[in-house]
Amino acid sequence: MANEPLMNETQETAHEADLQRYDKLLVALHWLLALALIGQLLLGLWMVDLPKEPPGYRGGWFNVHKSIGLVIAVLIVWRLGWRISHPVPAAVAAPGTWQHIVSKLNHGLMYACMVAMPVTGFIGSNFSQYPIKFFGYPLPRLFEPQPDMKALFAEVHELFASIFMVLIALHLAAVVWHVLVKRDGLLQRMSWGRAADQ
Ligand code: HEM
Ligand code: HEM
Repeated sequence: MANEPLMNETQETAHEADLQRYDKLLVALHWLLALALIGQLLLGLWMVDLPKEPPGYRGGWFNVHKSIGLVIAVLIVWRLGWRISHPVPAAVAAPGTWQHIVSKLNHGLMYACMVAMPVTGFIGSNFSQYPIKFFGYPLPRLFEPQPDMKALFAEVHELFASIFMVLIALHLAAVVWHVLVKRDGLLQRMSWGRAADQ
């Protein structure tokens, strides 16, 4: 309808609250990152126990982890930028309830971990004596090798990984609760729907 006026601010706010689903790109990034981050966590946990022999074997997998981690970092920056610049559906839980507070806290802390994981990994790796090889291409180092700093950042990276895994487990438990017990269609909010459903 060519003559329909553009929405004013009040209508736009009402439109945001009416949204039933997350924006299509956020949905795509959510699922892509869910897969990539779970894979990256498993790869990290597996590779730290690899033997140092034959030479290059452990280091090779470390560089796979570092390279994928840097690609994931770009997707995370994209997701965060998109998230703060686009409306999202109103929370399922009523504001002020413990479910609302816990879900906001869980989502916020997962975003914090999404930032902390690549940042601590990248800084720690820059204190290592080995340069990061991004899919085989050595990146310039930011600092001189410092084993103490490398060890410190490895500890912090590991700590954030543990916190992140607990948050993801809580997130999954909440989704299962909504799907199996409450049956309130929560999963559909994080999926592509037909335009008519929006
Ligand atoms: C590494 C794994 C995952 C991470 C880091 C993650 C992270 C997040 C975050 C941060 C949000 C909040 C979205 C926002 O408001 O911006 C969210 C929402 C959501 N996630 Fe995940 N997620 C993961 C895996 C999963 C899986 C495996 C499922 C399904 C089984 C799932 C289902 C959902 C659903 C349904 C929502 C929407 C919740 C709502 O409408 O309030 N997530 N996820
Ligand atoms: C993007 C998200 C990332 C996740 C989820 C992740 C996850 C993990 C996990 C679970 C471990 C094993 C921790 C342990 O048990 O000690 C690990 C180790 C490691 N990660 Fe990451 N990582 C990420 C990004 C990165 C990036 C971008 C880099 C570097 C560019 C990196 C470098 C390392 C290194 C060097 C280790 C071994 C630390 C050690 O020496 O013990 N990670 N990572």
